[in-house]
Amino acid sequence: EEEERSERIEAALEELGDDVVILGHNYQRREIVEHADFVGDSYQLSKEAANADAEYVIFGGVTFMAESADIITDDDQTVILPSMEASCPMAGMAEALQVDDAWAEITAETDENIIPITYMNSYADLKAFCAEQGGLVCTSSNAHKAFEYAFEKGDKVLFLPDKHLGENTAHRLGMAEETVEWDPWDPESKDTSKVVDNDIILWEGYCQVHERFRPDHIEQVREDYPDANVVVHPECRREVVEAADVVGSTSTICQTVEEADPGETWAIGTEIHLTNHLDRWHPEVNVVPLCGEACMDCNAMRQIDPNYLVWVLEELTEGRERNVIEVAPEEKELAQVALDRMLEI
Ligand code: 13P
Ligand code: SF4
Repeated sequence: EEEERSERIEAALEELGDDVVILGHNYQRREIVEHADFVGDSYQLSKEAANADAEYVIFGGVTFMAESADIITDDDQTVILPSMEASCPMAGMAEALQVDDAWAEITAETDENIIPITYMNSYADLKAFCAEQGGLVCTSSNAHKAFEYAFEKGDKVLFLPDKHLGENTAHRLGMAEETVEWDPWDPESKDTSKVVDNDIILWEGYCQVHERFRPDHIEQVREDYPDANVVVHPECRREVVEAADVVGSTSTICQTVEEADPGETWAIGTEIHLTNHLDRWHPEVNVVPLCGEACMDCNAMRQIDPNYLVWVLEELTEGRERNVIEVAPEEKELAQVALDRMLEI
């Protein structure tokens, strides 16, 4: 069945030629990654989308990534997401309307200039909001640069939606003592005086795949493999990042394993598909999942079933555009400003 599906994908791609490019995130299934023209992290994929010439960009990833690709590509290019169900739960944890309310409460407390930074894992309306307030977008590979940019322009940062990436970045910049959490679902916890005293306000969002990792997983892996090295994604909790040897975006994780000496053991603290790819791509390295059987795949990323890839491609060969991702024009322009600021830092 897989062979037949693969042949159908290749046949459609041959027919469509240069009209189509397939971009795949590192967390995509093997059957998607194998057909992608480019595989990488969120930042690399946004760069590839910006440079793509093809009429159709087929995005192996989640909705917010496809939206960003639509914003970044030219108006005559079309972005297609093989499944409309591929929505990152973290992106849904900071809705623009909710952020508007929080912004009013936070800014009422202080005269200082607050710059909002949104993680790429957010929808276009939130990116547009950040641009409007002088802020920008970042990914896990450039969050520290986005913070530096923001502190050059303003006094405080509101970071959304991933509190762990925000906290880990604050540590990296030596500002660990300057953070305060903002939980929009819990009015009791909103101590606005802390907003005055601290320079980094962290929205209460997280990734359920990465929150699962605990320091005792690292202890266990070091016990099981005394020479083990540990690399984790910055969406992991602070204690996990602190106990790891290397922290970085999915492309940093890939590069770390690529540069490992043969025979080294690397425990990987991220989404399980990437760990499995690394195990396949680097048989000379002992690649192990950081939390063994308990390591999760990302339910949103998994929605991109290879059968859907066959479908959108074959439909295109018949002249039918399916699952087009199109950002509303009123949000597009501003969201582009926030993305461009990121691409420039
Ligand atoms: P990267 O930018 O590191 O690829 O991360 C994307 C993501 O969604 C991680 O959960
Ligand atoms: Fe979202 Fe986490 Fe999946 Fe990344 S791994 S897309 S942050 S749910």
